[in-house]
Amino acid sequence: MVKRIGGALLLSLDLDRESTRSISTQLCTALREVILSGGLSAGERLPASRTLAKDLGVSRTTVNDAFERLVAEGLIESRVGAGTFVSQALKAERPMPSPRVQETPAPARKPRLATAVTRAMGDFVERQRLPYSPGAFVTALPALDTFPMAQWSRLVSKHWRAQRDDVMGYGEPYGYRPLRQAIAGHLRTSRGVVCEADQIFITGGAQQAFNLIGSVLLNPGDKAWFENPGAIGACNGLVACGADLVPVPIDGEGIRVDVGLELAPQFRLAFVTPSHHQPLGVIMSLERRFALLQAAERAKAWIIEDDYDGEFCFGRRPLPTLKSVDSTGRVIYVGTFSKSLFPSLRLGYLLSPPALVSTFERLTRAFLPGVPTSLQAVTAEFIEEGHFATHIRRMRRIYAERHQALCDAAGERLTGLLDVAPTESGLHTVGFLPPGISEIDVAATAEGRGITVSPIRRFSLKPTGISGLVLGFGSIRPAEIRAGVGVLGQVLEDLMR
Ligand SMILES: Cc1ncc(COP(=O)(O)O)c(C=O)c1O
Repeated sequence: MVKRIGGALLLSLDLDRESTRSISTQLCTALREVILSGGLSAGERLPASRTLAKDLGVSRTTVNDAFERLVAEGLIESRVGAGTFVSQALKAERPMPSPRVQETPAPARKPRLATAVTRAMGDFVERQRLPYSPGAFVTALPALDTFPMAQWSRLVSKHWRAQRDDVMGYGEPYGYRPLRQAIAGHLRTSRGVVCEADQIFITGGAQQAFNLIGSVLLNPGDKAWFENPGAIGACNGLVACGADLVPVPIDGEGIRVDVGLELAPQFRLAFVTPSHHQPLGVIMSLERRFALLQAAERAKAWIIEDDYDGEFCFGRRPLPTLKSVDSTGRVIYVGTFSKSLFPSLRLGYLLSPPALVSTFERLTRAFLPGVPTSLQAVTAEFIEEGHFATHIRRMRRIYAERHQALCDAAGERLTGLLDVAPTESGLHTVGFLPPGISEIDVAATAEGRGITVSPIRRFSLKPTGISGLVLGFGSIRPAEIRAGVGVLGQVLEDLMR
């Protein structure tokens, strides 16, 4: 029998003989817990290994093995001829779990991010980003079915046959140089932006660019104009950086700069999607662009231009980007390959105005974990070899076709049920609901029948008075679009009855 106080404690050790963990590991873990929780105090003698083995019904080797491990960890010490003792080092103050409080616990203090997100979003789970797979009418996904897989795989294997040192080491902090050059070239030729590779910073998708810009430019509580309705990911990213988002309404020309100036003349940042508003699809007029640039210049504010799907303009000649008419140097242009290639690449970039280049350099050097070099290298080569430009041209035709299929099917099936607005660009459009029918009910019922539609409310910082559905048409073929419109028509008729 073990005689000491600790001995009684040790006898209650629970060893599971059926477990896949060895008995000596279990014993070691259990002894460690007893010692660390104060069950045995510093200097207290442990039972002799022979006694403990006998009492626990295990072999002496098992006990010795557990003791040796605890000696190695410094928790117990063996003194020749005297026995085994709990280490004196444990006399020092050590972290103990706080005693359990029985009465109602005090409200938990939320970390800064949780507080900010709750304040901005409440319990509005609809505003969280969703997992996406192709289907009618999923937004945010490009046409994965038409991606030139063969070319891409050829470049992937070519890359992995290059010099090990080039392929396997840490990447460059601002991004892989040839990709920065290729992007700068693409922006100059296709998006009318005068820029140099040094201004480009590669990020993990546009989302990381928003987070980065927010962390660089915002102090907690700074006012940031935000399109209402607007882009969910950017909203979440800026909120996480402490932005006090000011919802600014949208009309047929884009963000209402006059309202923004009334609500928050001293804004620090404005977030806009001028080439194709997310989610309403409006293209910002040139007048509005100039008004926004002027307002930012006066307030010494910065503008984030999110050009997420502006490449896919099929209605008319694309308007230039906001960046291309930015004579003030206030626009930070953000691009992504999530639409123009595919989202799992997680590749995006920001184009910094000259005044912020050294700030972004310092920050990315210090904090950015970087983006996998292999993906950057393959993307760079895809652009350099001309596949990217060809792919974009081809996708413009395909998206025009899919958009037309949606408008035609809606014209035939949804008249009086949903007013689908044609768009001139991008991979989604909106349909407006007649009064008296809830967009949330439509979305929920449609989901039950295998159709995804996003209520506009999901994109709204505060109610907009616009009731409708965001309809993605990019990821599915015309036949699936027509079938989806049929199901949606049925859903709407059922709900109206
Ligand atoms: C408005 C907007 N901007 C940017 C993106 C792309 O984000 P990321 O590059 O992080 O995939 C999306 C994706 O859906 C979006 O809706």
